[in-house]
Amino acid sequence: MAPLQGKRIFITGGAGFIGSRLTRALADAGASVVIFDNLLEQVHGPQPQLDLAGVLIKGDVRDAAALSTAVQQARPDIVYHLAAETGTGQSADEPSRYAAVNVVGCANLIEALKALETPPQRVVLAATRAVYGEGAYIDAEGRTAAPEPRSVASMANGVFDLFDDQNRPLTPAPTHESLPPRPGSVYGSTKLMQEYLLQQTPAPWDVVILRLQNVYGPGQSLRNPYTGVLSIFCQQAMAGRPLDIYEDGEIYRDFIFVDDVVAAFVAAALRPDAGGSLFNVGSGEASSILAAADMILEDLELKSQGRRISGAYRAGDIRHAVADVAKARDGLGWSAQVPFRDGVRQLVKWAQTNQAIAPNGAES
Ligand SMILES: NC(=O)c1ccc[n+]([C@@H]2O[C@H](COP(=O)([O-])OP(=O)(O)OC[C@H]3O[C@@H](n4cnc5c(N)ncnc54)[C@H](O)[C@@H]3O)[C@@H](O)[C@H]2O)c1
Repeated sequence: MAPLQGKRIFITGGAGFIGSRLTRALADAGASVVIFDNLLEQVHGPQPQLDLAGVLIKGDVRDAAALSTAVQQARPDIVYHLAAETGTGQSADEPSRYAAVNVVGCANLIEALKALETPPQRVVLAATRAVYGEGAYIDAEGRTAAPEPRSVASMANGVFDLFDDQNRPLTPAPTHESLPPRPGSVYGSTKLMQEYLLQQTPAPWDVVILRLQNVYGPGQSLRNPYTGVLSIFCQQAMAGRPLDIYEDGEIYRDFIFVDDVVAAFVAAALRPDAGGSLFNVGSGEASSILAAADMILEDLELKSQGRRISGAYRAGDIRHAVADVAKARDGLGWSAQVPFRDGVRQLVKWAQTNQAIAPNGAES
């Protein structure tokens, strides 16, 4: 019998980009899935168009009583916690909402699970690489460094790269899970608190933490101005606007296709020895935002519309991200399968058939 056959799974945020695809994969594998999601308007719009493979309980993780009732109804074997406020830039303007949803919401989930007569065996957290802040660099002496977040003052002067305290350039390197967390945004800090809450609350279940890199692909909200940068580029291009590239364009991200992320979540539930572990989930390759923008314009046949390197910057944004993925390969038996160029084609194809009127905005 397949290992997920008949398993009861509870997934917060299961109506979202990653959650809805994860729900479909779990249901296809024979699990019965209960989704707890407040259908946040910023993500889903005023009239959500849903095609969910699980039972939806509409509720807010800030509402401890509603969450507890839902958990009692689901009696899960496995819990995935994905519900969150996810905008790095927005989190600077709305720290109390981000703390309430991401931190208190996670604490509410833990307490709801603790009240169950039969606790789940495992809780899997959708964590983020944002906990690393700028991430790993190599200094002039060849040592690993974890630099402080860039200052707004230096970015205002057009200095976007990172330097050590003697003003020598730092070279970006793949970030390993052992790098001490150093979040540079309210979003990253609230997501780190979720990890700590799950690790530090004594509980009968084990915890697996997946620190996701930049997830992209079909299904990512095309109306949310705080969502992933590639969806925002699709929004901008299809609305006839030049793509707005921040800083000097030399921004790098580790883009990971949504189906690869779903596979990592499934592996995180199934590997008995993964309990108590924390894994990076990324492609292990750094791609430039400029190159990604050009791919999207090419696939939309809008190359002439162009892109604009605006020099704009935001406090809390990081310069360069790439994950060291060796631990996930060894500990989860997982690695990314979808090449970036293929994934972008799939995203663009989907965006063309799901075009939404989106407000202005940008996020990376
Ligand atoms: N997409 C990425 O690149 C990425 C990267 C790193 C980590 N993550 C994490 O993965 C998870 C899922 O992200 P996503 O990209 O699918 O985002 P998403 O916005 O598409 O999905 C989040 C879901 O949570 C729901 N939600 C929001 N606030 C809620 C609340 N108060 N109560 C109940 N439900 C609520 C939303 O309605 C939405 O359906 C998040 O925890 C996010 O921090 C995502």
